[in-house]
Amino acid sequence: MKITSKELRTKWLSFYESKGHLNIGAVSLIGDGSTGVMFNVAGMQPLMPYLLGKPHPSGKTRLCNVQGCVRTVDIDSVGDASHFTFFEMMGNWSLGDYFKKEKTAWTYELLTKEFGLDGEKICATVFEGNESVPRDEETAAYLRQLGIAPDRIFYLPKSDNWWELEGTSDTPCGPDNEWFYPICGTEGRFPEDYVEIGNDVYMQYRKTAEGGYVPLEHKNVDTGFGLDRLLLFLNGLKDGYRTDLFLPVIGKLEEIAGKSYDDDETVRKAMRIVADHTRTAVMLIGDVNGILPSNTGAGYILRRLVRRAIRYCRVLAISSASLCEIAKIFIEEIYGEAYPLLREKEEYILTELSNEAVRFEATLEKGMKEFEKCLAGIARKNEFMKKNNPDYAEETLIGGKQAFRLYDTYGFPLELTKELAAEQGYTVDEEGFEAAFREHQEKSKAVPAGEFKGGLESHSAAAVRYHTATHLLNAALKTVLSPDCNQKGSNITDERLRFDFNFERPMTAEEIAAVEALVNEKIAEDLPVVCREMSLEEARAQQFVGVFDGKYGDVVKTYSIGEFSKEMCGGPHVGSTGELGKFRIVKEQSSSAGVRRIKAVLE
Ligand code: ALA
Repeated sequence: MKITSKELRTKWLSFYESKGHLNIGAVSLIGDGSTGVMFNVAGMQPLMPYLLGKPHPSGKTRLCNVQGCVRTVDIDSVGDASHFTFFEMMGNWSLGDYFKKEKTAWTYELLTKEFGLDGEKICATVFEGNESVPRDEETAAYLRQLGIAPDRIFYLPKSDNWWELEGTSDTPCGPDNEWFYPICGTEGRFPEDYVEIGNDVYMQYRKTAEGGYVPLEHKNVDTGFGLDRLLLFLNGLKDGYRTDLFLPVIGKLEEIAGKSYDDDETVRKAMRIVADHTRTAVMLIGDVNGILPSNTGAGYILRRLVRRAIRYCRVLAISSASLCEIAKIFIEEIYGEAYPLLREKEEYILTELSNEAVRFEATLEKGMKEFEKCLAGIARKNEFMKKNNPDYAEETLIGGKQAFRLYDTYGFPLELTKELAAEQGYTVDEEGFEAAFREHQEKSKAVPAGEFKGGLESHSAAAVRYHTATHLLNAALKTVLSPDCNQKGSNITDERLRFDFNFERPMTAEEIAAVEALVNEKIAEDLPVVCREMSLEEARAQQFVGVFDGKYGDVVKTYSIGEFSKEMCGGPHVGSTGELGKFRIVKEQSSSAGVRRIKAVLE
């Protein structure tokens, strides 16, 4: 390696520190909600108020950092050599301080002196202008002064040389100057043989709600150079998974799978997806505002990433436990130094990743069979129809209800089904899926809240033990069967617990044994049962389960059992799970349509 990722981060920061910038460090990957963008997709996103004129809390007007970003719009392209869902943006900013003259000079100095690029081979693009914003002759003039030949400076339209945060308004934006260099240093034609290595945005406008552009009083600079891309490029590589940010992980995957990355495209693509998605999952769970896999919002994006990674583990014929093995490498070897929080949260990250893997593995096999059945059904129908009518146009559409069933019962995110379908030349009725989804939501809303009551009739020591066991059972069912299994009723006596939950079919003997084993494992771990009072909103944010039918600001009581179970509940409970004894399911039967009932004892 000519330059390592660690050296590159340091070089960037010290260069800009030497030009009077304050390193403000990175913030959470998860957007603060102010822009409506879920993740930080650019280093400037958290700095929006200061780019609009508010003084930065540090009192400084020159800032720099290396900021993690998550972009999932291109998720379908991940698997090739250059798309990632997580990347690090090296940035620096002028908040109404220096402008085009200094910025062009510094970028040029950094590229040619620090990174050793040949100034004569650099190409640059600037904004050609339109009816609301003039052509950026100023930047072009400074570039020429630096020695960049006029025929290497290109004027391009808004689609190329304008930067704003998509889907937002009342945000800063402006024309940008992009820097290009020939791929692997060999000269050729622009732009085919060149790669963009970064850009300087001149944020001098505010985008209004009506879509107009108003000049800002303060003229800012917003620079962004993707670390992953530059690292690749400076090392003369073409494959983004060959840099030190991935190499040890690919090595590990080769070892586990007993296959070589270079063997064939299918293996390569699968390894890239497993590596990329696991890295992003580690970063999201290990973030300061860490999220967990769930069925809504950012948590659902995380869930989709993990599940897609597991699907590609299957392509490599390796177990989903491999995710944890490579997550360890990301945490301990690759990112631990630059992101110390990952090391602090290592155990937590690995546990959560593994929990999600266990949850999905429990249904993946059956879901794949169900999926095959869907296709076989369509094939049978096509065959039958063709027999009677040779001109019959073959059907290749998977019904929305079927896709929803894969989602609801087997935890297949829609795009997983779409991806599997596409591989076999099928498509999915997405509108039908949405309709089935809505119908399901309406049905579940109609469940009266009373059904969720604790059902604790006596507070005897035996009943209290059963009550805690009920929480373990609830969590175990979510793990083994589906995270969408919810409590529909509970009744506890001194002799047994009875627990009702939504699930479409009888549990198999295997599933019953797995639930028992998981509950007993948690009993053997002697986990503390911790009670905390918090606001309803906080309980929701921390993903406690229960009925959220209170009003804003209500204080609720929550009980967590290690990291395994988190419920809103009035108690009482035992102090730790070791007090429970041995858990055994004595009966599993139907309670009503779509609801199963378990009776269990502690021995
Ligand atoms: N905000 C600019 C970008 O992300 C620098 O490319």
